Amino acid sequence: MRRVIPAFLLACAGFVIGTPVDAQTKPADDSVYQAFGQKAGLQALMEDFFDRLKADARTAPFFKDTNRANLVEQLTEQLCQESGGPCVYKGAPMDKVHRDLDIRKQDFNALVEVLQTSMDAKGVPFRAQNAMLARLAPMHRDIITR
Ligand code: HEM
Repeated sequence: MRRVIPAFLLACAGFVIGTPVDAQTKPADDSVYQAFGQKAGLQALMEDFFDRLKADARTAPFFKDTNRANLVEQLTEQLCQESGGPCVYKGAPMDKVHRDLDIRKQDFNALVEVLQTSMDAKGVPFRAQNAMLARLAPMHRDIITR
């Protein structure tokens, strides 16, 4: 028995540590999704975001050949899902999409800054902004490649 208990505890610890980040931090309700104005609010936000990305000298070069309607649609689905809304992101995985874009930490930070400007412009409550950023931040591991 003395051997069984530590083994059992270790297995439990392994389970908790091994649980994907997604399962640990998934929003339990859709309050963040509601605060963003549901799907229509998210889409308007992503349109504004895309236009700001194209207007900002730090991020514009990355998006010079990007189809606006497609990116807005994919981002809307993704942020809808991340905020607890009734969507399932079906676009390409983050590592695959960004692999060849040569994105540095400072590029990632610039994009986040532009997103914050957009969220402010659309009047998204500060708490909801932070909740969304907390969901997106861990993705940096798959996006920053140098
Ligand atoms: C948390 C941060 C980010 C998220 C959630 C995100 C999300 C996405 C999504 C959902 C797509 C579309 C995938 C598809 O079409 O299947 C995409 C594409 C793209 N992302 Fe990101 N991204 C992030 C950061 C960045 C950064 C930092 C850059 C560059 C500064 C960047 C540049 C691009 C470009 C250029 C495309 C379009 C590629 C193409 O034209 O096909 N992304 N991203």
